[in-house]
Amino acid sequence: MNILKSILTLMLGLATTQVAGQSIKPGNTWYDTNGSAINAHGGCVVYADGYYYWFGEQRSSNKSDGISCYRSKDLYAWTKLSRAVTPTGTKTDENRDIASGRTLERPKVIYNAKTKKWVMWIHWENGNDYGQAKVAVCTADKVEGPYTMVDVFRPNGCDSRDQTLFLDKDGQAYHIYSTNMNSNTNCERLSEDFLTPLEDYVVQLKGRRYEAAALFGVGDIYYGLFSGCTGWDPNPGRYMWTYDLMNETWQAPADFRASDGSTGINYCIDSGKLTSYQSQSNFVFPVPGKDKCFIYMGDRWNSSNVQSSKHVWLPLSVRSGYPTVRWYDEWNLSVFDDMYRMKRLKELEDGAEVYLLEKFSNRLVSRPNASLTIENDGTSNLCFVLHKTSKPYVYKIEDKAMGKFMESVFGTTRWQDEADRESQEWMLWLQEDGYYRIQNMSDGVCLSVSGNTTEAGTSLYLNDASSSIHQSFAFYFDSSVHTDYEEADMFSKNYRSANLEAMKEQATTVGINDIRQTSNGRTIYNLTTGQRMRSNILSPGLYIEVKDHKARKFIVR
Ligand code: DGJ
Repeated sequence: MNILKSILTLMLGLATTQVAGQSIKPGNTWYDTNGSAINAHGGCVVYADGYYYWFGEQRSSNKSDGISCYRSKDLYAWTKLSRAVTPTGTKTDENRDIASGRTLERPKVIYNAKTKKWVMWIHWENGNDYGQAKVAVCTADKVEGPYTMVDVFRPNGCDSRDQTLFLDKDGQAYHIYSTNMNSNTNCERLSEDFLTPLEDYVVQLKGRRYEAAALFGVGDIYYGLFSGCTGWDPNPGRYMWTYDLMNETWQAPADFRASDGSTGINYCIDSGKLTSYQSQSNFVFPVPGKDKCFIYMGDRWNSSNVQSSKHVWLPLSVRSGYPTVRWYDEWNLSVFDDMYRMKRLKELEDGAEVYLLEKFSNRLVSRPNASLTIENDGTSNLCFVLHKTSKPYVYKIEDKAMGKFMESVFGTTRWQDEADRESQEWMLWLQEDGYYRIQNMSDGVCLSVSGNTTEAGTSLYLNDASSSIHQSFAFYFDSSVHTDYEEADMFSKNYRSANLEAMKEQATTVGINDIRQTSNGRTIYNLTTGQRMRSNILSPGLYIEVKDHKARKFIVR
């Protein structure tokens, strides 16, 4: 009887764990509709004719076993189809085959509307080591395949290991790959049929040693997620952005400071960020029909048993203007419903009801208890009312619910009844990306993030202006309350160039009258506007330069 009970319990247990649900549990074993663990790694998802198709490395006994393909209606329940790429033929001396035993990694699939073919590019190795660094290009008439090999080669003669494809809005396709023994990243346009690279490739991100590129676009901006180069082991993810894929102009935010020793800024913002939640990026999937909604797809590699590597899929937001990925134990697509309810305010009008969004965490200034912190969206987020003063760029900041005003009292934030004093006045120093440094007019201290952390619950405090402290906040409004407010066009090139002009204007307007040295050795800058500053940094990229201290000659640049 007991044995029967145990068998029953075991069967029930299996039944509950192996059924695909209506949610995603990052890092858990993900079962297909047959109850087998999904064997698709380093891959990508494409959407075609009402179905999602998930392609990935199929592994067996730790070796490559072609490219698998799964299909889903909802992104949760996946049905395994026939292999998209089945190893065929025999190994050739010139290493141009997809015979059994070859290593096939990071398959990426795009559709060519001109040739009406599906095109797959795969990182190709001979099966013994990672020395060949080639790509295998395959095509199919149907999205799910079968894909047949067109060629295996080194693109533009360059070594190509981790690689991805990016299909732009205008139909132009790009191939992006780690090269020069993973030191640099190359980007090249593909020919019209997407089967070969054009010759004018660009060497980018030089010396950064990035792997695992995953690209996506919003408005005029292209974002790239990357990993560092630590084999199968995870490391801090990082992102860069550019307006032009064929230039060397990838950048991180201007006031970037890597607190984790990496180059580029980490897109993971929760605890576990130093290992990208134990994953390595493989793809960013734009969810069809949901504006600016993306899924981060990563691999939690198990190097001794690659087929059992887990899948880490998480929602990715660009609400802050930069990619951020929060951790969820379990989530579904409803996460996207409210992702962009808070929108960047176009003009800081007098009386505007706003929320303050902190740049590096994509979190809102809140007061869950006595003091200010950054938090996820919720009831503790503070709604502020902005009050213009007679001084240019200077505002008073009222807590709407309390009716009290933010004040710097001995360098600490306090909430007081409105009073006519400088300690309740805040200069908003604009930055090129639409963020502001919020600096007190009385003592020059700025709203700052403690320890430069990005996790929810991190305290805010007041400190001197500094390029090594996170001091960037942007003004957002609740679009479900204020349908009358205008949203900033923050993904356009124009937005940044207009901000740059506005920054210069601000620097010119505030000017500098005077510099004084205090008894404790601090330098105080008296601005034309009446503000006193302790730091010569106005805003990232804007400095006060002392030309001649005695002659009182200063320039702002
Ligand atoms: C890191 C890469 O990102 C993976 O795709 C794989 O090639 C491993 N290296 C192999 O060590």
